[in-house]
Amino acid sequence: MKVRAYNRRMDTIAKLCRVRRVFSAVLLFAAASVAGAARAEEGHPLTVPDTLQQRIASCTACHGVHGEGTPESGFFPRLAGKPAGYLARQLKDFQDGLRKYGPMEYTVRHLSPEYMQEIAEYFSAQEVPYARSPLPRVSPEALKRGEELATKGDPSHQIPACAACHGTQLTGVQPNIPGLVGLPYDYLSSQLGSWRTKTRATVAPDCMAEIANRLSASDIGAVSAWLAGRELPSDMHAQPAGSISPPLHCGVLGATGDGA
Ligand code: HEC
Ligand code: HEC
Repeated sequence: MKVRAYNRRMDTIAKLCRVRRVFSAVLLFAAASVAGAARAEEGHPLTVPDTLQQRIASCTACHGVHGEGTPESGFFPRLAGKPAGYLARQLKDFQDGLRKYGPMEYTVRHLSPEYMQEIAEYFSAQEVPYARSPLPRVSPEALKRGEELATKGDPSHQIPACAACHGTQLTGVQPNIPGLVGLPYDYLSSQLGSWRTKTRATVAPDCMAEIANRLSASDIGAVSAWLAGRELPSDMHAQPAGSISPPLHCGVLGATGDGA
């Protein structure tokens, strides 16, 4: 019990630190802008070095230095190891207002497509071990339903198997499809919910929006719980490009339909 209380306290402290880190990042950013503007007025060029480290400094306060995210809460998503095409697309979707989250939309507002690609490649190349995240209490029946949706789908509701696009091990497919294993329950279920409430969208046809709308609320809980609790495959890398034939057309996968 004592250990648990201690862990809880450490958790709270960690959370507070994180919030403070975010605030400090915002303050630093504001201070740098004011200083920059002042210098520019004096006729001196901006002196902030334009390096990748400089560009990602505003991201790491929330996502972690290596894009590890916050597995304990799932609130700040992991970026490490996700396919670069997928990450770059998300940045563009936040920029275009298709995917909605104020601080993200603000952070990427002025980034050029080249910068976004470079940042996406940095985080994609990070190799960070996956950490376990808390699991909800769900019935064995719900887990069985979750496994069925992930591996076989449900033809009676026109729901394709998640594995048909996310790869046989559900570790994703290069360059545009993210893995689903190793992600926290809260993150998975909230993203599926976002497609239904239209706070997350991408270029049409938005196959994930279609799928999320075919899932019931209990299906979303079931598949997210099964995915989050799944034993991690020894190789977490995404499958090679062109190794799937998607059962629905997804705009993000381009004309060939498999993103290759
Ligand atoms: C204030 C905290 C914060 C900052 C700063 C921030 N992010 Fe995010 N980011 C988030 C949150 C929260 C989400 C999840 C939003 C959602 O649920 O859709 C997110 C989502 C993302 C995603 C989508 C992840 C996925 O798997 O779909 C990417 C990519 C991303 N951020 C990259 C960046 C980059 C690059 C930067 C810096 C240029 C950055 N973020 C700065 C909080 C932040
Ligand atoms: C027809 C192909 C296809 C099928 C089938 C499919 N997905 Fe997806 N999924 C995608 C694509 C493409 C993306 C990237 C979407 C984007 O870029 O916005 C994606 C993204 C996701 C994400 C976002 C992950 C992140 O890091 O933010 C989740 C969660 C997800 N899918 C869950 C599922 C689940 C659960 C199933 C099965 C019930 C499923 N998908 C079936 C194509 C598919």
